[in-house]
Amino acid sequence: MNILIMGPAGAGKGTISERILKEYEIPHISTGDMLRENVRNNTPLGQEAKGYMEAGKLVPDDVINAMVEDRLQQPDCQKGYLLDGFPRTLVQAEAFTEIAEKIGKPVECVIALDVDFEVLVDRITGRRICSKCGAIYHIPNHVPQVEGVCDECGGEVVQRKDDTVEQLKVRMEEYENNTKPVIDYFEKLGVVKTFDAARPSDEVFGDVKSTLAQFE
Ligand code: AP5
Repeated sequence: MNILIMGPAGAGKGTISERILKEYEIPHISTGDMLRENVRNNTPLGQEAKGYMEAGKLVPDDVINAMVEDRLQQPDCQKGYLLDGFPRTLVQAEAFTEIAEKIGKPVECVIALDVDFEVLVDRITGRRICSKCGAIYHIPNHVPQVEGVCDECGGEVVQRKDDTVEQLKVRMEEYENNTKPVIDYFEKLGVVKTFDAARPSDEVFGDVKSTLAQFE
């Protein structure tokens, strides 16, 4: 199954991806997570990406395209992929189409999550993540059992540096200007399915699951 998941910051891409992975054996490739790992490990790629990410800006296309091209050629992608947060620009969309053809895995479904800005502000400022396994929490809606400690792995639960209202505005601008045209690009290929993601995640996932059933 070859899937992309798209939507603005806080739409629930990570949350819905976690649920999809419990149902299907495909790798979850989140460019945001890959970049944050590079920043944590202080790699040359991480050093280049850090400033852009903390400001809420997009990291340059050539950096991202090379990173994803390499990842999609790993053996586990022969089963398919769940790509989260990529492509986010038309340049990335064109590069992705070429890579997907090269590995013989064209995209079958683009899950587009749709949510209003006001809802996103609450989700983003309330979000906490495990610094070790990436599990997602929300204060006060989904708190870990012990404050600051991940239920899944015992790792430290922290707030992302870009999860402020200011940075969210920049990320939304980037989304409107660069990523919405990517959804239009995939609309023309007839592969986009749009979901109202302002609803509780169980409801959103229920609809996503029914849609994905046709690609099994
Ligand atoms: P990335 O990590 O991809 O961040 P993002 O797109 O801003 O998305 P988020 O991770 O913030 O949101 P999400 O939709 O996954 O929401 P979540 O499920 O956690 O990218 C970060 C940065 O990396 C970018 O700004 C950029 O600099 C760089 N980057 C990454 N990819 C790039 C690319 N391709 N090109 C260039 N640069 C790139 O949910 C949020 C919160 O809401 C959680 O607390 C959750 O519990 C809660 N929640 C979720 N769903 C629901 C629901 N249905 N009801 C109630 N609460 C919910």
